[in-house]
Amino acid sequence: MKSYVFNGVNLGRLGTRQTDVYGLTSYDDLVALCVKTGESLGLEVECRQTDAEHELVAWLHEAADEAAPVVLNPAAWSHYSYAVRDACALLKAPLVEVHLSNIHAREEFRHHSVVSAVATGVICGLGVEGYRLALQYIASRVS
Ligand code: DQA
Repeated sequence: MKSYVFNGVNLGRLGTRQTDVYGLTSYDDLVALCVKTGESLGLEVECRQTDAEHELVAWLHEAADEAAPVVLNPAAWSHYSYAVRDACALLKAPLVEVHLSNIHAREEFRHHSVVSAVATGVICGLGVEGYRLALQYIASRVS
C-alpha cells in the first residue's frame, strides 16, 4: 500500500530553520525517517515538499484520484489556505495533519488550522516523531 507524505512551504529548510522550534532534523533526514518507517510497516512511502501552493493542490488531487492515504504538514498554509483545505476534502483515504511544533502554544495566528476539520486526525508538538506516529496510524487503517 502506498502512502504520501506531503510537506508545505518552508519545510525544505528543516534542520537550519528556527531549530529551537523545529529541531535539528534536516528535510532529507525526515524523508529517510518516513521511508524507513514505511518499510517497517509495509507501506511504500513517497515524500514530497513544495513551496508552491498550486503544486500541493495538484498532489492532493493525485492522492484523491488514487484513493491514497496522506500525511500532510501544510505549514503556514494550515492557517489560511482554503484551497489546500478544499483539496484535502477530496481525499478518500485517511488524512493525518502533522505539525512539528505545538501550534496551540505559539502565536495566536497559528492556533487555528483550516485543514484540521477535514483531516482524519491531527498530531502536533511531537517533532518528527509525529510523522512516524501518523504512518503507524495509516498502516493500521489500511491493513
Ligand atoms: C508548522 C507550524 C506552522 O505554523 C508553520 O507555519 C510551519 C510549520 C509545524 O510543523 O510546526 O511552517 O506546520
